[in-house]
Amino acid sequence: MNPALTVTAPPAAPGALPMAGHLWQILRDPLLFFERQHIGAGARTGVVVVRVGPRPVHLVTRPDLVRQLLADPGTFDKGGIFTEGVRTLAGNSVATCPAADHQVQRPILQPAFQRRRIVDYSRVTEACADALARSWQDGQRLEMVQSMHRLAAEVVTRTLFSGPGTVQAGQDIQRLFPHLLAGLYRRMLLPVAWVHSMPLPANIGYRAALNGINRIIDREIQTYRGGGRDRGDLLSAMMHATDPRTGAALTDTELTEQVVGMLMAAIETTGSAAAWLLHILSAHPQVEEAVLGELRIAVGDRPLRAEDLGNLPLLKRVFAEVLRLYPPFWLLSRVTTGPAVLGGHHIPGGADIVFSLYCLHRDARAFPFPHRFDPDRWLPDRVSDAQQEAHLPFGAGTRQCIGDVFGRTAIPLVVATLLRHWRFRHATGREVTPLVKGTLRPSPLSMVVTRRTAAFAP
Ligand code: HEM
Repeated sequence: MNPALTVTAPPAAPGALPMAGHLWQILRDPLLFFERQHIGAGARTGVVVVRVGPRPVHLVTRPDLVRQLLADPGTFDKGGIFTEGVRTLAGNSVATCPAADHQVQRPILQPAFQRRRIVDYSRVTEACADALARSWQDGQRLEMVQSMHRLAAEVVTRTLFSGPGTVQAGQDIQRLFPHLLAGLYRRMLLPVAWVHSMPLPANIGYRAALNGINRIIDREIQTYRGGGRDRGDLLSAMMHATDPRTGAALTDTELTEQVVGMLMAAIETTGSAAAWLLHILSAHPQVEEAVLGELRIAVGDRPLRAEDLGNLPLLKRVFAEVLRLYPPFWLLSRVTTGPAVLGGHHIPGGADIVFSLYCLHRDARAFPFPHRFDPDRWLPDRVSDAQQEAHLPFGAGTRQCIGDVFGRTAIPLVVATLLRHWRFRHATGREVTPLVKGTLRPSPLSMVVTRRTAAFAP
């Protein structure tokens, strides 16, 4: 028999305990655990089975296989161990629904992310970042992850709801959102339904936050329905969009699920990526200076616009490198809709599949000296095919991030706006390391801001 055609069962990761499997190792240090699988059995085979408690989970470790599964949503559908927790929140939204619904939902929402709209959203983004920069005091110490998540929540809620009375809605969502994320994180780590339905304070707080957010969104939808016109924001775009095949618009319940899904997908990712970018720039002052030099030449001291980003190639490379080292969604999941073969391995129907963008982005075969920050690896003549294949911060295929252009625009815009006003320095000598929450966050990130006195002072 031709060995190339042999289909085998994927190997099991070593070190599983009888009931707990690898759960304790995953909880203790998730990044280390998954990195070890990538270097160990997974490096040879491309697929390795880890156990989350008694549940077998197929970890895919090769970028070509990850691309293959992302290109085949009919077999490797959205779902699995980490998506289940998000579904308790965002229901059947575009970010969580199975492939059959996704074919209908994605084209309905896509117009909300046209380039023309992104330019409008970026005006809001720049205004929010500018207001934040003006609110700080010289020498102030800031918890930068919190600040960036708050800013991201403001940007996302203000691009979602732009009406004059909706500032309060945005603030209420920003207040409730951290409770929702904490609950979501618990559900992702421990996907056991009965634990989360017990009358514990954490569960009660989570339910209250979810009900509160749903009420706010519902109120906004009713206000918009009363107004009738397109306000140029995300909610308007979603309300005016119709199914190209049937002409049907989204119902109120569908809209609420989409908005919650959008908040979940957008705020944490954008806030964490902005915090990482600030951390990396202040840890590399020469790169920071070069980015400022580029800004001076391309923009001078007039307000920054989304259109300027095309003239800031170094900032773009630094951002690509930050997303490589610290992809906010570091682990993604899928579920097989029937028996499948991947990389010569048999995978049963209904199996959990996971893949780690963090580990793929640190594979030395695609990225020489993978732990080194090197924005110049993104210079056009240095980008290899292997590097392109393994770099997936926004995913790929039909489920690629719908907000990728928005994120790629908003985050450099925010950071460049803040950087022109302030110098950022770490407040303590403590090492900043990735902390796994809903996304990958820099921790601890306490920074002191000093007002710039030269060309960019406000
Ligand atoms: C740095 C910023 C961001 C990163 C790194 C990021 C990353 C990702 C990734 C990796 C996926 C694919 C998940 C999967 O395949 O399972 C995704 C999906 C998604 N993202 Fe983003 N995202 C970012 C910002 C945003 C923003 C700003 C929005 C909206 C305003 C957004 C909305 C969504 C939605 C709705 C999906 C689901 C798309 C679908 O399944 O069709 N994201 N994101």
